[in-house]
Amino acid sequence: MKRKYFDRQVAADILRRNDFGGYTVPTHGLYPFQWSWDSAITALGWLQLDEARAWQEVETMFTGQWSNGMVPHILFHGDTESYFPGPDVWGTRQKIPSSAISQPPIWATAVRLLFENTKDRALANEKLASVLPNLLKYHRWWYRERDPKNTGLVCSYHPWESGMDNSPAWDAPLANVPLIDWSYERRDLNEVESDQRPKKDEYDRYLYLVDFFKECEFDSDYLYENCPYKVLDIGIISILHRASIDLLSLCASSSSVGETSDLESNLNETEKAISSLWWPEKGCFANYDLLADTRLDEVTSATVLPLFANLANAEQVTAMGDLLRTWIDKTGFALSSTHPESESYERKRYWRGPVWLHINWMIAEGLVANNLQEIAENLKDSSRRCVQDAGFWEYFDSENGTGCGGKNFSWTAAVGLHWLDDSNDTG
Ligand code: DGY
Repeated sequence: MKRKYFDRQVAADILRRNDFGGYTVPTHGLYPFQWSWDSAITALGWLQLDEARAWQEVETMFTGQWSNGMVPHILFHGDTESYFPGPDVWGTRQKIPSSAISQPPIWATAVRLLFENTKDRALANEKLASVLPNLLKYHRWWYRERDPKNTGLVCSYHPWESGMDNSPAWDAPLANVPLIDWSYERRDLNEVESDQRPKKDEYDRYLYLVDFFKECEFDSDYLYENCPYKVLDIGIISILHRASIDLLSLCASSSSVGETSDLESNLNETEKAISSLWWPEKGCFANYDLLADTRLDEVTSATVLPLFANLANAEQVTAMGDLLRTWIDKTGFALSSTHPESESYERKRYWRGPVWLHINWMIAEGLVANNLQEIAENLKDSSRRCVQDAGFWEYFDSENGTGCGGKNFSWTAAVGLHWLDDSNDTG
């Protein structure tokens, strides 16, 4: 028998209230523009309510694509007084003001879900044909600009690009980035308690990197050689890989995309290179600091995301399954974004411990694909308990499930509609 975990209407109302006309803000106040990976996940929620609106989310994001193919992590569509740092700090001078970095590239995966679960085939065919060239350009940007030496592993220049801003994995590489020497006022702390957000020291270094990008005029070659922060982010690498698989599948259903053998070869290169990030002592993958040439020894929710990308061999799948079984049981609510045995674990502070439901969804998808159904069910159950008890928050305290960060949050409502509600037929 189907059980009701939450009121679909509440989740639907959140998306409708956060709809700014063509794009959905993550939440009012804290994040008043279009964020890339938020928007992609949110499109999956729209699919449950209004398919045309789901495609519009995609189209609006790609109106801000740079001519080199980059899809920025923020598009500043409107008045920017309430958010810091705004477009003047980024200094990108694009037609639609934007940031200068990207975010985990989940778009092609979301588009594949829209395309395959459509109830309006003519609309889906038309929309796919128009977005496919842009998706290809975006993926080629990642491989060309972020892996110019064709190592198989793309790099990242900013913790904000990971979407997991203050993950303890970034502490060591970020400590080598200087602090800025100008003062500023953080707006995020007007909205959320400071013990749930990154610290000032981290913000000073985030902003140093923003200035650095601007000073070198976003020159990719220069950044590759000189950026003071350069990491291999296992989250980005996994999500890109999964999305490239989805993109190639979409290309196969379209007659007009041209040659895609370059993407197939990118997939092969990543499949060969990924074993260099395996961390056998822990039974998961690891992030890597390219400048210090060292592994980043933190077990975070990103370090099991290769499951989502079909990048793990049988032995690695077994090891990650074992790790996840004990990890889930160590906190009241799962999956904590940082392993609770880490010295850096903090149950409420953004990416240092809280539970994020879109990450649970990705990990669970990977678990199901790797025949670890029972762990996937545990994650789903924990995710349902979060929203059932607290509502649709940005993230949740991993010990007691209390809502943290922004409330009435789009991606959490979308994951609810897409994945957590038994009555939907695509999740
Ligand atoms: C923020 O503003 O906190 C975002 O995570 C940066 O994109």
